[in-house]
Amino acid sequence: MNKNDFTIRLEDTGDRREVEELIRGSFWNVYRPGCSEHYVIHVLRNDPAFVKELDFVMIKQGRIIGQNMFMKTVIEGDDGREVEVLTMGPICIANDLKRQGYGKELLGYSLEKAAEMGFGAVLFEGNIGFYGKSGFDYASRFGIRYHDLPEDADASFFLCKELISGYLDGVTGVYQTPKGYYVDDKDVEEFDKSFPPKEKLKLPGQIF
Ligand SMILES: CC(C)(COP(=O)(O)OP(=O)(O)OC[C@H]1O[C@@H](n2cnc3c(N)ncnc32)[C@H](O)[C@@H]1OP(=O)(O)O)[C@@H](O)C(=O)NCCC(=O)NCCS
Repeated sequence: MNKNDFTIRLEDTGDRREVEELIRGSFWNVYRPGCSEHYVIHVLRNDPAFVKELDFVMIKQGRIIGQNMFMKTVIEGDDGREVEVLTMGPICIANDLKRQGYGKELLGYSLEKAAEMGFGAVLFEGNIGFYGKSGFDYASRFGIRYHDLPEDADASFFLCKELISGYLDGVTGVYQTPKGYYVDDKDVEEFDKSFPPKEKLKLPGQIF
């Protein structure tokens, strides 16, 4: 990767199908046999919590090679407050360009733009191996719990980064995944039929 061989811009309506194809290719068989993320973004673009100013595509030689998006959500504070935060994703990079630094560049750019808009923190489910390099830490270190997770369960998948230093000082509470992320498997199946057939495989390392 070279810092001059890509650009990042907002997603256009005309990019949508190409972005969904990219996501489908990148997530396919990674976390489950097949994937649902291409349908998730398809639905989320019309969700009131979707932040259209933070819906990015990464372009290299005219081709969309990466994407990232954000949604607004809240931490339900233990003291009764609702603290507005962002959640993120799907984020992905094209299969043939993974592990070359593009994801880190796209993530860094997106977070910078989110900070410029005044958002205070980003929380989501992810792998500390990748996100830790961009300043994310376990959300438990900030006193934030994942909804519906038993107290003694492993929450190391749940990550947080403050965009405004100290934004979560004095806040403890429960993070809520925006409802829009919960899609029906049947709807995913139906939507997936509009793409070329692809084999679903059960592979080691999948979490669902
Ligand atoms: C996750 C993803 C966006 C990362 O993008 P990428 O371009 O492959 O990652 P980068 O090359 O920028 O990696 C940045 C750093 O994170 C590390 N890293 C990347 N993916 C990692 C992983 N899955 N596990 C552990 N570390 C990882 C890299 O080694 C690199 O470290 P370095 O800076 O010390 O060299 C991309 O691999 C992808 O699209 N994956 C499939 C979809 C997905 O899982 N999306 C995220 C859902 S939460």
